[in-house]
Amino acid sequence: MKVFKTSQSLAEYLSNETRPLGMVPTMGALHLGHLSLIERALQENQSVLISIFVNPTQFNDKNDLINYPNSIDEDLLQIEKISEKILVYLPKADDVYGNIVEAKSFDLAGLDQMMEGEKRSGHFQGVATVVAHFLKTFSPDRAYFGEKDFQQLLIIDHINRSLKLKTKIIGCPVVREKDGLAMSSRNSLLTADQRKQASKLFEGLQIAKSNAKKVPYRSLKIMVNAFFEKHNKITLDYFIIADPNTLKEIDLEQPVHQGRAFIAAYLGKIRLIDNLDMS
Ligand code: PAJ
Repeated sequence: MKVFKTSQSLAEYLSNETRPLGMVPTMGALHLGHLSLIERALQENQSVLISIFVNPTQFNDKNDLINYPNSIDEDLLQIEKISEKILVYLPKADDVYGNIVEAKSFDLAGLDQMMEGEKRSGHFQGVATVVAHFLKTFSPDRAYFGEKDFQQLLIIDHINRSLKLKTKIIGCPVVREKDGLAMSSRNSLLTADQRKQASKLFEGLQIAKSNAKKVPYRSLKIMVNAFFEKHNKITLDYFIIADPNTLKEIDLEQPVHQGRAFIAAYLGKIRLIDNLDMS
């Protein structure tokens, strides 16, 4: 493992590194979801670069940024165990942003108008800013992102195409705990009781999937809302089924034949998201 703290030293090193190069951008607190992306990158590329950077401009809530889990020593140990040849980019904010730490303003084709974009104002401009910067600076041949953050994946794919970057964006399936909870760095912030309740996000999605073709979407919404009303330790933020390409909500009057269900819920102050293909 080689750790680089500046993009300049890394870019110089990369100019002599064997291609193809696969990149896995992360905010650290690595778990098996991240590791699945890293394994895939190792399988498909000669060189692999992982970035670990808690990107301040994508946090619309200061407390969320302050409380974001940090386990950099463990992260580096985990990476070292997987492969000696991995490159790690571990910058401070000024190496990414210079003196002015702010997001740029991209045309995200409306993909940031709903769900996480609507609830977390400016979040996706922050994500697009940092990811576009990484892709431009290091020009990976492939970059790996999880379907766990499906809206993020679509937005990154859009930015990559509209900026005509040469990277191929690869979406990877959601990795789950035994009880179905999607792995997330934020899961470590849950109390033991909240952790038990957290599996209800996936249960909600499964209730939707098992009824999707039988009843109109309007009735599915009622079913899922009723399920969360029974459990007062978890608070539903939204449940939406949308077209997986445009993220526009599907017709309320029709059963779901194609679509992806998206869910967000609070356990105390911790907000978790998940999604599931309904077809
Ligand atoms: P982070 O939340 O650390 O996630 C890094 C990558 O791991 C993302 O592509 C995310 O979708 C993926 N991932 C997280 N949990 C997963 C799971 N359970 N299964 C599969 N993939 C999973 O997402 C970010 O960081 C940031 O927004 C980033 C893209 C790095 C930009 O700052």
